[in-house]
Amino acid sequence: MKGVILAGGTGSRLRPLTKIINKHLLPVGSDPMIYWPISKLRDAGICDIMIVTNQHHLSSFIELLGLGEAMSVNLVYQIQKTEGGGIADALLGAKEFIGEDKFVVLLGDNIFEDSLASYVHAFHSQKTGARVLLKQVEDPGRYGVPELDHAANRIRKIREKPVHPASSFCVTGIYMYDQEVFRFIKKIQPSERNELEITDVNNLYIQSNELQFDILSGWWIDAGTHESLFKATQYVYEGFSKESSF
Ligand code: DAU
Repeated sequence: MKGVILAGGTGSRLRPLTKIINKHLLPVGSDPMIYWPISKLRDAGICDIMIVTNQHHLSSFIELLGLGEAMSVNLVYQIQKTEGGGIADALLGAKEFIGEDKFVVLLGDNIFEDSLASYVHAFHSQKTGARVLLKQVEDPGRYGVPELDHAANRIRKIREKPVHPASSFCVTGIYMYDQEVFRFIKKIQPSERNELEITDVNNLYIQSNELQFDILSGWWIDAGTHESLFKATQYVYEGFSKESSF
């Protein structure tokens, strides 16, 4: 299985830190943020990884990571043509790299404790469809929020940043997809914030009865704001001890 890490976007909630530096190169603990998703994929046995980013940040990633030898992975890069065009737009650029495989997508600003191994294993044994990972959070309105049918153990619908969240869970930026994802992306339209939303893609999987989910057990954080970036470093230092795991 291959992996895709999305590391584009505008990082607007982290200005002025992101005025000249890509968000995913900012520090989380003692490492650049991008080391985290790379190591999570690698530790789950996924070593062929594409990083999607903006044209003007590409050279910084290449300078930092090269082809991935130092982290024992094989890296390739892709430029997102429409900067800030949305998560689903960024994903389109990975189509050729993925080929016929199923694959795992990580949003580059999602920092979390769990190993991905068991979730990837579950996805392996799922013939078709997609799989998302949920986490209970204090402020679900900041995220994609699932409406859950507990009896049927399924997600009824996901709403992006709802004013009145239907649950206290969020859909984290850890997604697993089959080939259908590229067809679904072609079907969706830009949202009010003018992005191709991954939530719309996931809702198409729900309509096809093809979206499974798991719930993360360890800590999870979207390090996309000043406060959450600070918290991510706090979690890293206090949440567990890391002995040069990279
Ligand atoms: O963190 C989980 C949340 O991430 C989900 O619950 C939401 O459903 C999902 O839409 C997303 O919400 P955000 O508003 O936090 O997404 P953000 O714009 O911060 O982008 C998340 C990551 O995706 C970030 O690491 C950069 C990358 N990205 C984003 C955009 C908009 C790209 O590579 N290209 C893009 O055009």
